[in-house]
Amino acid sequence: MSMQDQAQAEIEAEMKAVGSTTQPLQQNQSTLPPKAEIDVQHVILVLSGKGGVGKSTVAVNLATALANHGRRVGLLDLDFHGPSIPKMLGIESRVPTVSADGIEPVRVTGNLAAMSIGFLLSSPDAPVIWRGPVKMGVIRQFLAEVNWGTLDYLVVDLPPGTGDEALTIAQLAPNLRGAVIVTTPQDVAVLDAVKAVKFIQQLDIPVLGIIENMSGLVCPQCGGTVDMFGRGGGRKAAGDHGVPYLGAIPLDPEMMRSGDQGRPYILQQADSPTWRAVDGVMENLVAEVES
Ligand SMILES: Nc1ncnc2c1ncn2[C@@H]1O[C@H](COP(=O)(O)OP(=O)(O)O)[C@@H](O)[C@H]1O
Ligand SMILES: [Mg+2]
Repeated sequence: MSMQDQAQAEIEAEMKAVGSTTQPLQQNQSTLPPKAEIDVQHVILVLSGKGGVGKSTVAVNLATALANHGRRVGLLDLDFHGPSIPKMLGIESRVPTVSADGIEPVRVTGNLAAMSIGFLLSSPDAPVIWRGPVKMGVIRQFLAEVNWGTLDYLVVDLPPGTGDEALTIAQLAPNLRGAVIVTTPQDVAVLDAVKAVKFIQQLDIPVLGIIENMSGLVCPQCGGTVDMFGRGGGRKAAGDHGVPYLGAIPLDPEMMRSGDQGRPYILQQADSPTWRAVDGVMENLVAEVES
């Protein structure tokens, strides 16, 4: 047996012992948990292969864009180990309250509400140290015990990769319309984005499309473009795997600042190439969902 075969056999034995697998998921209807009771028309997952590629940025801007279009929107942060939503929406000091109807999500505007573990931690730098089953319980609570009311959209911000959180929300959420995959252009990110595409396809969930973020840096001094992480990797992956390409968003210091300052970039209404790119990507995405 080669070293590689031996390592593979050992990994598979370990995984079997804990009931896990690298084989295609078998969605056995009789063993799936029941869907959570939540009144929502479209649930959209925001996923990526890697961290730091812009999932939370996309989730915040998508939720805000939808709310601006008059939709009733919930934004659910399932990145328990790195919850970014409270800060990116400028609501990190808010605390969910409990009413007779359940846990009240934090209201950002009349038709946009958010829920995140970040609201419930004793301090912003407190780590969350949970195993899979605890996360599954919390995800169920965040769906069924939060008083979302009637929603047109629930946008779900996920941690990177194809782990417990993504699998659990895929099983529990009703009316799952699909997943958006965010990637940066370079091969090391695109490779993992393709894994996320295949994961979603194995679960029989539509891939709404791939977004290529940080696609070229617009130089604030000269206005020229620097292809920091290359260009075109997201478009190519979408073409290769037969899923929609939703467009590219440049690397722009204004986007980073708006995240740090808690003001969604899309609200700035700056008539810049970056703003038009973000707006275009959001329009393409809404068209995919509502078509
Ligand atoms: N197009 C962009 N231009 C500049 N900064 C960006 C862009 N997209 C995301 N960022 C910044 O990069 C960092 C990581 O983005 P984030 O959305 O938190 O990624 P993820 O959720 O995938 O880990 C954040 O500081 C965010 O503000
Ligand atoms: Mg994030």
